Amino acid sequence: MEALALIPDYQPIPLPAPVWLLQLLLVLGFFLHAVPMNVVLGGGFLSSACLYLGRGNKDGDLYRMGKALATSLPLFISFAITQGIVPLLFLQLLYGPMFYTSSVLIAVPWLAVILLIIVAYYMSYWTIYKYLKKKDGEANKGMAPLVLLIMSFIFLGVAYLFVTNMTLMLHPERWQALYQANQNGLNLPGMDVNTIARFLHFFLAGFAVTGLALGCFGLAINKRDEEFAGYLIKKGSAIYLLVTLVQIGVGGWFLMTLPKEMMMNYMGQDQLATITFVVSMVLMMVSIVGTGLAFTGGSRKMFITGLVSALLTVLAMVVMRHQLRIYHLAPYVDPEKLPVSTQWDLLIVFIISAVALIAYLVWLSRLVWGANNPLLRRGH
Ligand code: HEM
Repeated sequence: MEALALIPDYQPIPLPAPVWLLQLLLVLGFFLHAVPMNVVLGGGFLSSACLYLGRGNKDGDLYRMGKALATSLPLFISFAITQGIVPLLFLQLLYGPMFYTSSVLIAVPWLAVILLIIVAYYMSYWTIYKYLKKKDGEANKGMAPLVLLIMSFIFLGVAYLFVTNMTLMLHPERWQALYQANQNGLNLPGMDVNTIARFLHFFLAGFAVTGLALGCFGLAINKRDEEFAGYLIKKGSAIYLLVTLVQIGVGGWFLMTLPKEMMMNYMGQDQLATITFVVSMVLMMVSIVGTGLAFTGGSRKMFITGLVSALLTVLAMVVMRHQLRIYHLAPYVDPEKLPVSTQWDLLIVFIISAVALIAYLVWLSRLVWGANNPLLRRGH
């Protein structure tokens, strides 16, 4: 196989922990990245639309919803970035030869991700301090939605680059042509139909998870402003519900565009993959019923049911995505065959630091939420 000759060797030092543990941490790490990253992807577009459509009445629910979302975006961005480092570590350990090579082939756009994120992150703060916190924001009414819209497209570009690299690392047969086209990393491969479906799947998920985030805002202010809380829960549920119904079609399309033998793995060929798929579908149905009832009746309990099942659906999808990578890479690399020399001391330090970091981020979020919360009140 020609592609095999292009794949570099793994580093000679043994893996610092058993492969199953590294895979578990990769999957969990990506889940922790995926949730805030989805809010970043969908939240920018949604807040921009709400602020624009609700601009006529700053005390109106729609405007306040857009403002609440826009104000919380820097927090979700910082979560997405810090939680991105966790899967990055384990991805390099387990699939370094594939990931490094694809990254080198598209090095220029890939490294531009850092710059793009810095600019977009800055824009999220710019919107808050330049427009949303100003009392005399009348003259700039159109600016906040515009800046948020530009920011959203930049983040969409970042997602595009991630999807491109995560797909390219699975296809070493595409590498040679890219290297011949440009040897300095100035490549940006187009998307085949499977990658387009994958990208669309992520993009839509962004709106669905943002709907859940809005509902959570409602839960958080329930005691203080029951009416607005109800509005957020209903609207958030409606967004999740609508997008997820569309997602059924897009997800099905994504599955159909996979190579047939891989698709069949989820349809009974591979027991674990099939179980994960069935579990994810059941969880999705529960989330649809939960958010459906929360949308019609405003029930907090139903929203929580929908929320928990939706997050578990995302987790199941993350597992399926990992299984898909294993299928793709099976002919090329097998981390299971690598030597392992477990460094428990380092591993324990890592796990303690990771848990402490998450606790710190939760504390920080509460602090920032407390500081920005007055923005949610009428008249601000
Ligand atoms: C805030 C802007 C970001 C967005 C919108 C974003 C978006 C995405 C998307 C859509 C994927 C999935 C790609 C696919 O499976 O096809 C992804 C994966 C990934 N992201 Fe991010 N990302 C962001 C920031 C970051 C940062 C700053 C890091 C690293 C510090 C990071 C690390 C990762 C890693 C390692 C994966 C792959 C994980 C795996 O394959 O298991 N991301 N990201």
